[in-house]
Amino acid sequence: MLDVVLGLQWGDEGKGKVVDVLTPRYSVIARFQGGPNAGHSLHFDDKSFVLHTIPSGIFREEAVNVIGGGVVMDPVIFMKEVKGLQEAGIDVVSRVKIAKKTHLILPTHRALDAQSEAAKGKDKIGSTLKGIGPTYMDKTGRNGLRVGDILAPDFLTRYEKLRTKHLGILGNFEFDFSSYEKEWLAAIDELRAFDIVECEYVVNDYIKNGKKILAEGAQGSLLDVDFGSYPFVTSSSTVCAGACTGLGVSPKTIGEVYGIFKAYCTRVGSGPFPTELFDETGEKLCTVGREFGSTTGRRRRCGWLDMVALNYSVMINGVTELIMMKADVMNDFEEIKVCTGYIINGVETNELPFESGADITPVYKTFKGWNCDINDIRQYDKFPVEFKEYVEFIEASTGVPIKIVSVGSDREQTILR
Ligand code: IMO
Ligand code: MG
Repeated sequence: MLDVVLGLQWGDEGKGKVVDVLTPRYSVIARFQGGPNAGHSLHFDDKSFVLHTIPSGIFREEAVNVIGGGVVMDPVIFMKEVKGLQEAGIDVVSRVKIAKKTHLILPTHRALDAQSEAAKGKDKIGSTLKGIGPTYMDKTGRNGLRVGDILAPDFLTRYEKLRTKHLGILGNFEFDFSSYEKEWLAAIDELRAFDIVECEYVVNDYIKNGKKILAEGAQGSLLDVDFGSYPFVTSSSTVCAGACTGLGVSPKTIGEVYGIFKAYCTRVGSGPFPTELFDETGEKLCTVGREFGSTTGRRRRCGWLDMVALNYSVMINGVTELIMMKADVMNDFEEIKVCTGYIINGVETNELPFESGADITPVYKTFKGWNCDINDIRQYDKFPVEFKEYVEFIEASTGVPIKIVSVGSDREQTILR
């Protein structure tokens, strides 16, 4: 059986923490899409880690961590991550398997990303500039290089060929990647020490042998290339279906779909965000919630919970269990608002519009805040009634139970229902 855990908003929902909490139930943790644009934070035993490419099961001795073929990997960033973990005493090499079909992010992909964003000017996506878009373009354009290719004797020739092609596209766009290229080639050599596998066979064997697998999504459903607020999206399938194509498993193998959402919303980069707050409340969510990117350090845009968007994500993913994060950030809010509908051209709707530029006025339902510290609560019964009302409203609106509530960044600050 394979369960999927994914973000239902615009990323940064707290996936790292949730996967870390869920891993004891699983023997295999697999990333299925995205790349170093992700930043999954974990906090335990007074230590903090941010993972970009490596699955969040890496801290559990018994777990196997698979990087699936739907992922794009920058070997430099990956090896930095590996070394950081090794310094913390973790035997990364024995715990990680990399799919041969994982696409490689080249130094020139990073340059192409920068060129594309520069050309868009004020319409830029707000990309993390890790080369994600150009790498997925080369994948679907059938030009990409994959991790399995590094084992071939002519890998360098193939690298040179793609590099030359990229340099042609870059023209006179200035981007110095010579030192990065040196590191990149060195990292490619180090990558050979890893178990580079036929991921689809490995994962299906695990399933056949009764191993429990957790597929860990990156980004969020509203950044999905098909269903997100296009073009302000990332370039991969961040939704549940991506677990099938990213790992090579049948939809029939999928069991639970855990959907993670924050009790409010954040978005980093450009694109529509109907409930965004530009006032003191937005400021408060940002400072109390420490809403700064773990990959780029950028300040995240903040706003109220959006049920139109959340219900859409629940629908696309077939979410079976919800996980609510960071409600504690709103501990001293007199009032909490939730968007229950959009008014577009004078008409109220519960559906996300096709146009990314649609003029949306959110319709809000106001809740009384719980106005107390909930960070030390460890039992659902002990939560204040206002908090439970908030939780139960979301359950009624989505039709999905909230099974886990997180009230702080530490592993321990987790309430299972
Ligand atoms: P995790 O896994 C939040 C956003 C970027 C930008 C858009 C496209 O930590 O939740 P890209 O680099 O993919 O070309 O950027 O997507 N974005 C994320 N936002 N969390 C992430 O990952 C993100 N990965 C990409 O800010 O708006
Ligand atoms: Mg992030």
